[in-house]
Amino acid sequence: MINKQYVEDVIEWLQGVRSFLDKRSDDSSDLHDEIDQLLECTSEISEDELSASEIEQLQQRIHILHHNVTKLSQKQPQDLNVNKSVPIGKHTLPPLPYPYNALEPVISEEIMKLHHDKHHQTYVDGLNKAERMMQKARETNDFSLIKHWEREAAFHGSGHYLHTLFWENMDPRGGEKPKGSLLKQIDHDFGSFEAFKKHFSEAAKAVEGIGWAILVWAPRAKKLEILQSERHMILTQWDTIPLLVLDVWEHAYYLQYKTDRAAYVDNWWEIVNWPEVQYRFDKASQLTWKTQ
Ligand SMILES: [Fe+2]
Repeated sequence: MINKQYVEDVIEWLQGVRSFLDKRSDDSSDLHDEIDQLLECTSEISEDELSASEIEQLQQRIHILHHNVTKLSQKQPQDLNVNKSVPIGKHTLPPLPYPYNALEPVISEEIMKLHHDKHHQTYVDGLNKAERMMQKARETNDFSLIKHWEREAAFHGSGHYLHTLFWENMDPRGGEKPKGSLLKQIDHDFGSFEAFKKHFSEAAKAVEGIGWAILVWAPRAKKLEILQSERHMILTQWDTIPLLVLDVWEHAYYLQYKTDRAAYVDNWWEIVNWPEVQYRFDKASQLTWKTQ
């Protein structure tokens, strides 16, 4: 007897595989066709039973598809653009993952064109310039403008990374609510999806001036958190992971060094715990987002 839950799981898996394939650059039209056919026939399955041979046939097709997708996913990870690094000053504007008018009526084509082609491009250009200027500073040992270029790198870097996330966070077929482990975590951390949605919306509406509402994962607390970001940086680049931090608030050195922050900074290098930084780097570098 065919199990209803099994069919639902198959449909969910097929949809997941389809979105995985959509993100890849290789030609997988055969797999796409097979998925579409399977989706069509599984969605037609009602509570009425299929014959034993039909079930066996379906399971066989799923098995073959699973095998082919696994083979593809193991092939040339560089195709996925995840293991490359971006050379200094060589960030590029990622193409929108859907047509400009795909998000209408929620977001108009005109906005998407302007937002993506003009605004996001400006962030990419600004980040590239800041990176090149900071490279020049290291080469010439002239750090007189470092404050300016760090500001630029934070402003444009956050702009570039957040917009890249933003485009990917939306989908013309989107909406409704998350499922599975994400929904479970949201329920755990916010009480319910409705409470999360209300909190996130209120945070977004209340951002002072211009900025973002951001759902983050805090690996240390192992929980989700909602944050606001005014403008989009205050000298950080969202979407990055801190590896080594130095506290230069006065409370960190004043009692001992008085106003001589420079001496504190210079001495600090003697006590850096590099194995810990290495540990964080090892963990963080396992994350493989698409390169942009
Ligand atoms: Fe924007």
